[in-house]
Amino acid sequence: MDGDGVMISLLNLSKTFSDDKHTVEAIDGFSLDIQQGEIVCLLGPSGCGKTTVLRMIAGLESKSSGSMKVRGKSVTSAGSDRGLVFQEFALFPWRTVRKNIEFGLELKTMPVEKRHEISSKFIELVGLTGFENVHPGKLSGGMKQRVGIARALANNPAVLLMDEPFGSLDAQTRNLMQKELLRIWSATGKTILFVTHSVDEAVFLADRIVVMTARPGKVKEAIPIGIPRPRDRTSSEFISVRGEVLSVLEAEFEKTQIRELSGD
Ligand SMILES: Nc1ncnc2c1ncn2[C@@H]1O[C@H](COP(=O)(O)OP(=O)(O)OP(=O)(O)O)[C@@H](O)[C@H]1O
Ligand SMILES: [Mg+2]
Repeated sequence: MDGDGVMISLLNLSKTFSDDKHTVEAIDGFSLDIQQGEIVCLLGPSGCGKTTVLRMIAGLESKSSGSMKVRGKSVTSAGSDRGLVFQEFALFPWRTVRKNIEFGLELKTMPVEKRHEISSKFIELVGLTGFENVHPGKLSGGMKQRVGIARALANNPAVLLMDEPFGSLDAQTRNLMQKELLRIWSATGKTILFVTHSVDEAVFLADRIVVMTARPGKVKEAIPIGIPRPRDRTSSEFISVRGEVLSVLEAEFEKTQIRELSGD
């Protein structure tokens, strides 16, 4: 299954969380291949296991069964080939913006001038110029996320795993960051797996939108988005694709709600 162009290969993946009292089947039978250079957006009802899938690919969470490969190699731990931008990406509070972004580069013992050059590039890219020496405690939520994004990109990963990275940004900044991400993507050819609750964001970004079922999550439908870039959110094509994706998603939301109402 791991052809040349496949970056991430997930086959029959499952994950069950359990402690003394509870067992939660988060993922069951999740299969998906992501091509090198592809942007895949993951959509699904809250609690369907999107974050769990990302954390497993990142090597932060073990799998219960199935197979999980990145560039043909089984995932067993975290690695700098996978850059993470998560919902609540913890920054080091005692490090400045620049020092947070340079963290991974320091681990690689990169010379200070080179580190500085790379961090400056990404500070500018994410719009934090002027905040290089500020500590995270003084930043807004959106700015903290920008630092998280810059930090992931600074390590030059092959894969970017992004969990609602723009969810806390205001609408204009969010649209801008989406464009920035596409610019970085076309310049670098990175493979991106991007979780979002926004159908609009997914249709704007994705080569393919993967809609998950309600928990236990698996792939309900993978929808190729063929709209040429740059995409115009007001075009009839965009609006019609958004409608199609929404209807697939809404069916799953209804299932979640029915389950919650029935106390299942
Ligand atoms: N560490 C954990 N221990 C126990 N259960 C967990 C753990 N992490 C996640 N879960 C459960 O697994 C299921 C999937 O959670 P997950 O966070 O992956 O969903 P999600 O799709 O990312 O949701 P959201 O859209 O709200 O972010 C949920 O029922 C959640 O409660
Ligand atoms: Mg989540």
